[in-house]
Amino acid sequence: MEFKLSEEHKAVQQAAREFAITRLQDGVIERDTNRTHPSEQVEEMGALGFMGIMTSQLYGGSEMDTLSYVLALEEISKIDASAGVIMSAHNSLVLWAIETYGTDIQKEKYLVPMAQGNNIGCFCLSEPEAGSDASMQQTRAEEAGEYYILNGVKNWITNGGHADFQLVIAQTHPEKKHRGINAFIVEKQWEGVAIGPKEDKLGIRSSDTHSISYTDVKVPKENRIGEDGFGFKLAMQILEGGRIGIAAQALGIAAGAYELAAEYSTVRSAFGKPIADHQAIAFKLADMAVDIEAARMLVYRSAYLKDQGQPYGYASAMAKLKASEVAMKHTVEAVQIHGGNGYVKEYHVERLMRDAKITQIYEGTSEIHKIIIARNIRKGELALPF
Ligand code: CAA
Repeated sequence: MEFKLSEEHKAVQQAAREFAITRLQDGVIERDTNRTHPSEQVEEMGALGFMGIMTSQLYGGSEMDTLSYVLALEEISKIDASAGVIMSAHNSLVLWAIETYGTDIQKEKYLVPMAQGNNIGCFCLSEPEAGSDASMQQTRAEEAGEYYILNGVKNWITNGGHADFQLVIAQTHPEKKHRGINAFIVEKQWEGVAIGPKEDKLGIRSSDTHSISYTDVKVPKENRIGEDGFGFKLAMQILEGGRIGIAAQALGIAAGAYELAAEYSTVRSAFGKPIADHQAIAFKLADMAVDIEAARMLVYRSAYLKDQGQPYGYASAMAKLKASEVAMKHTVEAVQIHGGNGYVKEYHVERLMRDAKITQIYEGTSEIHKIIIARNIRKGELALPF
């Protein structure tokens, strides 16, 4: 077993780190305060190949592996977790689905411009009454000749305001329950698509989150992804991969807060010595270091399993559960280490603490991940495969 990154992996990690420090660090507080989307930086992420990082070169992507994606997301999220989720939702939740199950026409029309970073995508699954219980879709897609007629409301949609293309999950045959659900590619400018106001969130404030409503939207039949009734299984598969991205985002948030706290503890003195030399602080940093390394191993391993073509849903649930809990716990500790300074914006840790919370909620709450893990244990999977 080799616990070592390849030169290619180190290069993408370094490129993301440099980008985050030179292009995201500046203005991150203002963007957070004003809920400003980092549009210029997202465009640059496209030019760097991050907005199609795992997509095949055939469709305009960078064709890197999942581990590269995770390494890049971790570095970006250390500095700006909002930029992290913009990249993650676009790649994992939209591009992956179209590349894996889309038709040649869908790939040409939608995947190529998104993988090149010219257009952004969003995934529209959640509804006011269908959050954790994702099969309870109220949005309807009724067949009408060459079209489906789409009606309903989606909530908490990451990238909702800026996405040109939406991957929408809707119920076509309610009597078939989850087996009647379909997935469609919908264009933002189509008649009947309305973007609601931007949510005023606790954290990841510069990524835009909106509700989106659909009123008699005519969706051409060729925009359905996969066979009739494949939508729920597709959504579940999308989330399996999406959770690797959110786990990497959470890992970045935790590692970013830890690095700031470790640095601060050497420059801040109390009772005649740097606070790092007081056991009360040294033990906190030691706990952070151990938990972050443990989370990192789970996150990298879930990416590795996906890259090896092995089942990864169990691993990604574990990675996301652990990394998000570590992010929440240790961003709070990072604020504590900073004392009064931790409570003000210019030290960054209060923002990271606010950003951490959502990683325990989206793409499945911690409780949903425990359900997934417990179901795997019940099936006899006591540990992840090596
Ligand atoms: N892959 C393929 N198929 C799957 C699957 C998977 N991972 N998981 C379940 N299925 C299939 C099952 O095989 C079953 O199919 P059949 O009946 O045909 O055999 C069907 O789906 C139903 O399975 P379950 O009975 O297990 O489903 P469930 O209703 O108990 O739900 C759940 C399972 C894990 C709780 C699921 O509802 C879930 O993941 N909920 C959380 C939803 C979520 O994460 N939402 C986040 C929204 S997106 C977001 O947050 C994006 C963002 O902002 C960044």
